[in-house]
Amino acid sequence: MDWKSIPTVKEAAELSYLMWERGWDEANGGNISYLLTDEEAESLGYVPGTGRTIELPGVPDGVRGKYVFVTATGSHFRELKDNLDELTGICYIPEEGDCYEIAYGLENSRPTSEFDTHLAAMAVRLAADPEQRVVMHNHATSVLAMTHVAPIDEKEFTLALWRVITEAMVLFPDGIGYVPWCVCGGKEIADKTLEKMRDRRIVIWGYHGVFTTGKSLHDAFGLLETVNKCCEVWLTAEACGHRNPGIDDKGLREICDTFGLTPREGYLTC
Ligand code: 13P
Ligand code: ZN
Repeated sequence: MDWKSIPTVKEAAELSYLMWERGWDEANGGNISYLLTDEEAESLGYVPGTGRTIELPGVPDGVRGKYVFVTATGSHFRELKDNLDELTGICYIPEEGDCYEIAYGLENSRPTSEFDTHLAAMAVRLAADPEQRVVMHNHATSVLAMTHVAPIDEKEFTLALWRVITEAMVLFPDGIGYVPWCVCGGKEIADKTLEKMRDRRIVIWGYHGVFTTGKSLHDAFGLLETVNKCCEVWLTAEACGHRNPGIDDKGLREICDTFGLTPREGYLTC
């Protein structure tokens, strides 16, 4: 099977364009990775050891022997759909060694500069739920604006968003992880992100952007949309004087009881 015929590759191209249209992926902002299913991987017929090998210290065991679709570093999301060969590709993660192989695509390029964080986040999420195979990062505008205004405390931040719309609790009962600003692309931000990803699907990077994970690209994107929407409504309400308190703890608990959800421990008072 041609790697570009995998439905998820097409989906990634469409969604990346949509994200760019929304203004969430200016220039090369944002990156996406997707762990292929075993069936998809087998259909490719790649022979390990034949691709370009690139060093990567600390490859997590959870992704060894797997194939990962990923966007290229420096790729512009508005161009992705018209140039999959250079701006995206599929990497094979060997069973051993601090490296990966470029099996398809990524011509004249390399995976995102945050590939190590993606692989580690993938491994962490797969350990929590074997179905979680997508990692998505971008610069969703309202989320970013919110990091300039809202409390820089993940419990307060989560509660602020839960109170905004009913769907917030439904989509992210585990809450939001918050990493205060630090330079991206390094070990510090990666370690802090992974720690929070162990029991959450969303991590916000202050003054930078957001990481979401999911079972599919649409799942991760839906979560991202919801978080961004909550932030947008919160900011609008704040600008208008924020006169009403939003959904109180009793109401949030009622949502959980109705939909069979477990809210993050210690966040609600009832
Ligand atoms: P890449 O172009 O390396 O994917 O980086 C984009 C980005 O958003 C960095 O945080
Ligand atoms: Zn970024």
